[in-house]
Amino acid sequence: MKKILVLLLVLIAMNVQSQSEVKKTPFGKTPDGTAVDVYTLTSGKVEVRIMTYGGIIVSVKTPDRNGKIEDIALGFDDLNGYIESGNKPYFGALVGRYANRLAHGTFTLDGKQYHITKNDGDNTLHGGAKGFGRVVWSAKQIPDGVEMTYVDPDGTEGFPGTLTTTVRYTLKNDELRIEYSAITDKDTVVNLTSHSYFNLAGEGNGTILKQQMELEADKFTPVDKTLIPTGELAPVQGTPLDFRKLTEIGARIDDDNPQLKLGRGYDHNWVLNNGGKFAKAAEAYDSTTGRVLQVFTDQPGIQFYSGNFLDGTVKGKQGHMYPLRSGFALETQHFPDSPNHKNFPSTELKPGQKFHSVTSYRFSVR
Ligand code: GLA
Repeated sequence: MKKILVLLLVLIAMNVQSQSEVKKTPFGKTPDGTAVDVYTLTSGKVEVRIMTYGGIIVSVKTPDRNGKIEDIALGFDDLNGYIESGNKPYFGALVGRYANRLAHGTFTLDGKQYHITKNDGDNTLHGGAKGFGRVVWSAKQIPDGVEMTYVDPDGTEGFPGTLTTTVRYTLKNDELRIEYSAITDKDTVVNLTSHSYFNLAGEGNGTILKQQMELEADKFTPVDKTLIPTGELAPVQGTPLDFRKLTEIGARIDDDNPQLKLGRGYDHNWVLNNGGKFAKAAEAYDSTTGRVLQVFTDQPGIQFYSGNFLDGTVKGKQGHMYPLRSGFALETQHFPDSPNHKNFPSTELKPGQKFHSVTSYRFSVR
């Protein structure tokens, strides 16, 4: 009896200890006067700030192996930075209603053709001109985090159905968990992700080329010259896209490989080996600081993007100019352009169904 009591007390104490602090602070206003808040989640090990504009992860502060705290997420110092620049790289943003590309901004659903705003040459990228990363989400505090909701009206950017999306960010110890859910009132397509750029040496601390990457994927989806998947699932074996073992990002990035030429580096969807179950998808490691980032997800794919469109022209945090490949993104997702590929896992959502998915980021050191 006494033993059980002690165990109970220990469990309660552990739970109390693992509670994160959540603080809401005003973060400015959008040009139309809408108030934006930032939520600071502090677990004792990690501090993450998320704002209601775009559900953007503004900063991620973690210790290196000597305890030195740095912000490892690229972005801007304040709300104006995101708004004035248009946040073209999608730093930290929630991405929807359809993450990544839709070929020719077109797809057919229930025999009807839909045309979505084209914002990437002849394609739609990350939900169209505005997308979920440039709207203000409503938010409420929840244990260890914040819950954000956005109602995307029927017809926005050309998508059918009113889509109500809820994203719950929670921080516990070294783990930031992002739980997505969405419902619709008409048949539609959904693909949601979070677009943080990490530099494990700290944002603004050079390129990520010496940092190492591991991806739990035997296959990837090759792309054409506009970065639309050809429909093939190709083995990574024998290619510079094989990250089944921790490998320096820069080791093969400039190899004479047609897929790397098309992507200007890594900008591809890897087909995860998880079989649709929540499992480790990626691990990144920086040997200089010891920082490790692990990504877990139940999504079938992950876009590993090596920051090939960063070109030193965007003035980010503390005036940092973010040169080519100075951050990487690991976007858990359904495959790009799925509505146009019957052999890809379906992204269709019908009334009465609920889209639900979990991705988590674990921050540690080695
Ligand atoms: C994704 C895309 C890239 C690029 C970035 C944003 O990762 O796959 O091609 O558009 O978003 O710059």
